[in-house]
Amino acid sequence: MSKPATALHTVTEHSPPARVRLLDRRNAHADPDDERRALVAGLFAAPAVISPKYFYDDIGCTLFEAICSLPEYYPTRTERAILTTHRDSIVQAVGTGRQFVDLGAGDCAKAALLLPALHARRYVAVDIAEAAIGPALSRLTPVFPRVEFMGVVTDFSRRLDLGGAIDAGPVTFFYPGSSIGNFTPDEALSLLRRVRDLCGPESGLLIGVDTKKDKARLDAAYNDTLGVTAAFNLNVLNHVNVLADCDFKPAGFAHVAFYEPIKGRVEMHLESRHLQRVRVGGRERVFVEGERIHTENSYKYHPGEFADLLASAGFTELRVWQDDAGDFAVFYAS
Ligand code: AVJ
Repeated sequence: MSKPATALHTVTEHSPPARVRLLDRRNAHADPDDERRALVAGLFAAPAVISPKYFYDDIGCTLFEAICSLPEYYPTRTERAILTTHRDSIVQAVGTGRQFVDLGAGDCAKAALLLPALHARRYVAVDIAEAAIGPALSRLTPVFPRVEFMGVVTDFSRRLDLGGAIDAGPVTFFYPGSSIGNFTPDEALSLLRRVRDLCGPESGLLIGVDTKKDKARLDAAYNDTLGVTAAFNLNVLNHVNVLADCDFKPAGFAHVAFYEPIKGRVEMHLESRHLQRVRVGGRERVFVEGERIHTENSYKYHPGEFADLLASAGFTELRVWQDDAGDFAVFYAS
């Protein structure tokens, strides 16, 4: 965001106050050249694929925040209602005075619901997008003066490296929003194991999971009337153009999203509207009419299925809270 020429401020709007330490671990394990090569290889594959982590450039983060307020997109508001309604029993299960690690923190809105009751010793916002956590931490710090705030910018799907942001004391990992759904069940299991390995005594994982339900409702949640999800999906092409020397024209693709009940996942794709030649990583990639680029999977779980996954990851104690309709589930696993 650029400042108007007449601005009286001496500080950029989004610069976090001195109290917030922001660690950038993005390139600690991932070499940007390898990342770009993997992205290009996915685009040349048949079917072509783009990892959903590329949704979250500045516009993508804003569009995702808008999705969360859409009438069709029930997960965010349902999870918020569960966290609010059951706040006391959740905080009792989790314990107070812990380090609180918010995985995929985004705008930190969900953690902000729990923070007043958690009396966390330290709050660590972890996200792949610095654009989201910087401003969010700046908003939260003045509200919770006793909490130590930290931000870690990293792709924790590869490796859960918090770069020394937490110490050996008890930790609560918080992984809301059903973001775990972006992984296949096998990948989810290995991520859950990695979290489990970082959990000592009095530590655990508070995780939100979207449940399997009626196909019509799931289809609607990813095909909203305003077209915000379509814009979110198409915007990945603009991000990829910047990252990997491509010249995708989003207008040449259509948003396609549907629940696949056998696989238990919503799939999102971008479908080529006509035969087109696209520059991809400096080379030419032809997309025929109707050819799709797979951009996201969003797995849904019956609560019992997810409980089994948590148990396989090594967690021994499980609690679960749900809304009355059973549309969403929040687990505490320790
Ligand atoms: C952030 C991965 C949980 O899968 O519902 C929303 C992303 N994609 N609408 C989801 C998303 C399309 C969201 N997660």
